[in-house]
Amino acid sequence: MTTFYYGPVINPQSLTDYLALPRCLIRVSAEGDIDRIYEDVQSSQLQEILAQNGYTDLSASNFIELKEGEFLMPGFIDTHTHACQVPNLGVGGEFELLQWLDNYTFPTEARFKDAGYAERAYPDVVQRIVNSGTTTCCYYGSLHLEATKILAKLVHDRGQRAFVGKCNMNRNCPPNYIEPSVNESIDTTLALIKYIEELPKTSNGQPLVHPILTPRFAISCTEELLTRVSEIALKNPKLAIQTHISENPSEVELTKSLFNADSYAQVYERYHLLRNNTILAHGVHLTEDEMVLIAKHGAGVSHCPTSNFYLSSGMARVGMLLDHGVKVGLGTDVAGGYSPSILSTIQHASIASKMLAIQAAQAADKKRNCSRHRHRRDEEVDSESSDEVERHSHGHHGHHGHGHKHHHHEDNCDGDEKKPGGFTNERLSIAALLYLATLGGAHVCCLQDRIGSFAEKKAFDALLVSVRDETGNPGVWGYNITRDLTDGVTAQSADKSMVEWLERFLFCGDDRNIRRVIVQGKMIGGQEYQH
Ligand code: GUN
Ligand code: FE
Repeated sequence: MTTFYYGPVINPQSLTDYLALPRCLIRVSAEGDIDRIYEDVQSSQLQEILAQNGYTDLSASNFIELKEGEFLMPGFIDTHTHACQVPNLGVGGEFELLQWLDNYTFPTEARFKDAGYAERAYPDVVQRIVNSGTTTCCYYGSLHLEATKILAKLVHDRGQRAFVGKCNMNRNCPPNYIEPSVNESIDTTLALIKYIEELPKTSNGQPLVHPILTPRFAISCTEELLTRVSEIALKNPKLAIQTHISENPSEVELTKSLFNADSYAQVYERYHLLRNNTILAHGVHLTEDEMVLIAKHGAGVSHCPTSNFYLSSGMARVGMLLDHGVKVGLGTDVAGGYSPSILSTIQHASIASKMLAIQAAQAADKKRNCSRHRHRRDEEVDSESSDEVERHSHGHHGHHGHGHKHHHHEDNCDGDEKKPGGFTNERLSIAALLYLATLGGAHVCCLQDRIGSFAEKKAFDALLVSVRDETGNPGVWGYNITRDLTDGVTAQSADKSMVEWLERFLFCGDDRNIRRVIVQGKMIGGQEYQH
């Protein structure tokens, strides 16, 4: 049945713009694709437009009118998470990566050898991730074929859009959690790909769950294994690839020495693993040369700031990646990250970008002071270099709906030169954060023609969000008309309230504010979902 949604809609457009449409009408086909968007429909025009669409009797279609304080937005895209690490959420954060893997992660993943455990644990895992508002998820399973098949089937049956891969890992892992041979690793990988490709398609003939090659990271794969994985990749150019890169300094050093390489990215390039459908998690310690290399191959980076803070890995230079033309999306990296919700990732992405901006401003201050001292000491004024130091650079992160643009004004006098995009060392705006969580992630998954924003012919993958007080989230000072009107507050323009609703949701929201999680037009989770 055709469904109409009518009400406030947030629609990401780019890193600098999103649309806030207070009276939008979206027509969704029976297959779950968007077949028409009317951006501004007054309620007085509604009957007429529905009649033009052939609906005089509203009960013949689903007509869903949003309440005040509710809005629709595209679903979140989690470009990096480990399904088999959910049992570890919130433990182990006193370690750094390599010790954390040995002490917490490998033992937890090893339990999935028991398919019965996978049958018991994975339904809860998928349930929690769906209810967090993730409509598309890039999952790492464990190294086990059976358990990962169970995960893929569950995700498929639930109706979540996803990529599911099993880890390739045959060295630097404990004896009870390591693949016994290269052949076994490759055979089980091929078997999982086949199993996922044979899962039923959606009614429009497209797959909802995709296989993905998952060489865990260079350290856990021998050269022979990476060579065999690359053979699969080269034979299947459409097959996506996911792995980790430059997350932690000790990891970077170990990788370079194991592979006798100048850089981490070079190792993956050597095995043909950098291409436009490759998802590289973290990239915290990438050099600019590596960013150039990654951009050249069109690979994307999954930014996982919750994990990067929790495991003391550092702060990825997202602005610089963007200025180099690298695609960027967000990842929870459960359980390196302690939250399955992209909302937490958004909050930490914002804080990481502010911290980088603060550090850059401090470095610039220090440099300026040093050069003043030097000038004084030398009793000469080098006006050219002082101009250089005083140069101001402006960001250009406006956002639609506010009616004005924000201009950032941090001095940029440190070593990190501004690139033409102007994102390096700048705070991420709301528009940018929203983009990274949706359309940016879609680009990283090479699904930008299907998801990430609302557009005709794209799939309707959406969240129905509520910032009404009755959701019970104490962190959201939400829509509460009784309280506000008795306070004598006059109604603000709808556009402005929407911009604030969005911002409150992103920073203070949680699963209580997510009323419906919709994938391909079908409700699959959220507070109103009935099992
Ligand atoms: N590098 C290799 N394996 C992992 C993992 O499971 N999590 C994270 N965060 N980094 C990794
Ligand atoms: Fe990870």
